[in-house]
Amino acid sequence: MSTESTRSSPDASLVPPRIPLADGGWLSGIALGTWKLDHDAARAAVAESIRAGYRQIDTAARYHNELGVGQGIRDAGLAPGEVQVTTKVRGGDQGHDETLRAVESSRRILGVDAIDLCLVHWPLPRLDRYVDTWRALVRLQADGVVRSIGVSNFSLEQVDRLVAETGVAPVVDQVELHPRLPQEALRAGLAERGIVAQAWGPLGRGKGLLDAEPIVAAARAHGVTPAQVALRWLVEVGAPPVPKSGDAARRRQNLDVFAFALTPAERASIATLATGERAGKDPSIDEEF
Ligand SMILES: NC(=O)c1ccc[n+]([C@@H]2O[C@H](COP(=O)([O-])OP(=O)(O)OC[C@H]3O[C@@H](n4cnc5c(N)ncnc54)[C@H](OP(=O)(O)O)[C@@H]3O)[C@@H](O)[C@H]2O)c1
Repeated sequence: MSTESTRSSPDASLVPPRIPLADGGWLSGIALGTWKLDHDAARAAVAESIRAGYRQIDTAARYHNELGVGQGIRDAGLAPGEVQVTTKVRGGDQGHDETLRAVESSRRILGVDAIDLCLVHWPLPRLDRYVDTWRALVRLQADGVVRSIGVSNFSLEQVDRLVAETGVAPVVDQVELHPRLPQEALRAGLAERGIVAQAWGPLGRGKGLLDAEPIVAAARAHGVTPAQVALRWLVEVGAPPVPKSGDAARRRQNLDVFAFALTPAERASIATLATGERAGKDPSIDEEF
């Protein structure tokens, strides 16, 4: 297994496998997170990361970096269709007509003909506009403005309400997922419905997950880093992760998780970390606009 010290130059073998989506589209096995990167940092990071092997970039209207993300994708110069971009409808833009306007704004700022994957960022049940928001995404997909549509931070009940009221299921639910918050019931329910659970906060957002003994021990055993173990665990449970790093060597390292496998004993040891502790907001309580 190679780490950043031995994989310092672009290497086509680091391109992650594609994960098929129920609508015929695909998701990359590892996507690049961009939260907290401003336009300039995002532009440089995205271009460098695509050269290193990333094929999906995760942004959101709320990250205020769609301009830099779009420029970074163009700077990398790959053929159209080789790199996908995900963006998200922020809480303050929920509602049918608001969403139509917001997605068109994101599309123009990103500078793309069509957005590859567009998610409803948070369900915001108190607002009760996520069904209208979803109807707008269904229309935008039919119009070809968006290729695939999904949700983020949704429960199974909320997903089922979308299907009951519109007849269209999301293809992705992007949720907080890592060994402390394995979300087994949610993952199983999404899998039954043919929806991919994509993992945000996969490294525990710098809050000590990577210092946990089962992760450190597995990293030592495989000659990799704790971050690579956390990402490998997600790959093995079928939840493609979206790690973010502001550092080029770490971003390359975070792609390099397909050449080793955790043992059953390591997986059992990592399972003891499942306290349910969140590193981010709880969508059943917290709100984000
Ligand atoms: N849908 C949603 O509601 C939602 C919510 C939150 C996040 N997201 C998406 O998910 C992405 C990832 O989540 P996140 O950024 O919150 O958390 P994360 O990826 O779990 O953690 C990022 C932290 O880990 C550090 N890190 C990265 N690679 C590392 C490595 N190899 N070794 C050690 N530390 C490493 C980063 O530091 P450095 O940058 O200094 O390397 C940063 O402090 C976001 O960027 C965003 O695109 C979506």
